[in-house]
Amino acid sequence: MNPWRVVVTPGDGIGPDVIASGAEVLDHAARSFGLRVVQTERPLGGASIDRFGVPCTDEVVQDALDADAVLLGAVGGPRWDSPYVQTTPEEGVLRLRKSLGLYANVRPVRVHDALLGCSPLRPEVARGTDLVILRELIGGLYFGQPKEMRQIDGEPGAVDTLVYRRSEVERIVRRAFQWAAGRRRRVLSVDKFNVLVTGRFWRGVATEVAAEYPHVEFRSMLADAFAAALVARPTEWDVVVTENTFGDFLSDEAGMFTGSLGMLPSASLGDDGRALYEPVHGSAPDIAGQGIANPLATILSVAMLFRHTFDQPQAADAIEAAVERTLDDGFRTRDIFEEGTRLVDTTSMTAAVIARLEGPAAG
Ligand code: IPM
Ligand code: MG
Repeated sequence: MNPWRVVVTPGDGIGPDVIASGAEVLDHAARSFGLRVVQTERPLGGASIDRFGVPCTDEVVQDALDADAVLLGAVGGPRWDSPYVQTTPEEGVLRLRKSLGLYANVRPVRVHDALLGCSPLRPEVARGTDLVILRELIGGLYFGQPKEMRQIDGEPGAVDTLVYRRSEVERIVRRAFQWAAGRRRRVLSVDKFNVLVTGRFWRGVATEVAAEYPHVEFRSMLADAFAAALVARPTEWDVVVTENTFGDFLSDEAGMFTGSLGMLPSASLGDDGRALYEPVHGSAPDIAGQGIANPLATILSVAMLFRHTFDQPQAADAIEAAVERTLDDGFRTRDIFEEGTRLVDTTSMTAAVIARLEGPAAG
């Protein structure tokens, strides 16, 4: 069989650190489970702006289209941050997502018992949190046209456009129902029905799609009310589906329940098996190059890659179990450190996970 091909884009800041960890775990797990995987590194984000003047070149898009999956680190940093720049590192990520048609961003949020003490929520509130946010990823405000700075009523201004087509809402809501079927069979759709026309439209389409899935419980909720309910009762939610911007905010909010954004993996999926995997956290320029970043979000993203692209649930389980054991054994990077645990750097955390990674059960 031909080897699986993974394009790896480390990006900026701590991106290269956590990607080195992810790549190592990927190699290790692939070997243990008898898969052939070829990883090819490509520039993205600020690293690409510095070399090519653009955050994502046509070649990188083509390589990603030709590959089975992309593993992305993080992009951005103060060097490329100015309100008046021509292009931003983030546009590189957006271009990749759009070019690959990755409309379904899956962000699982699971609070590990071992990390309850790091959660900003009280342990009795956070314990047992296990939800998935399905964020629409290539529509809405992020991509709507016009999107520009221009004169408005004789003074400088700016405009973004919030637009959703029926097919775009339908496909992400369907994904949510399919996802819920393998979980606790509850879908919550989040919109801003009371103010936005797109919100009313979203709710109508979601309600129609829901009728096709009578065995899954369905509700809709306003985005602001949900932001409050999410933090008040995090264990109540199973699959939450929402549009691009709300999904961006809500997934960061929910992510903090785990104690650190450094724990959150994600998968971005299209219809034709295309996929990109990345940690939810950003490039954390303040700790870049120090070797202390938490690699677990990337390692857990690699687990998602094994599950959803390689169709190797056993290997995915093994990686997730290894992470769980590493935490149970007290290994902590700085972001999740507590008194009485063992502070380690990125490399040692990765080694600890690999040491606990078990191959396929014999026989
Ligand atoms: C995320 C990030 C991205 C987004 C940026 C880096 C473009 O915040 O994946 O949540 O806003 O989608
Ligand atoms: Mg975000």
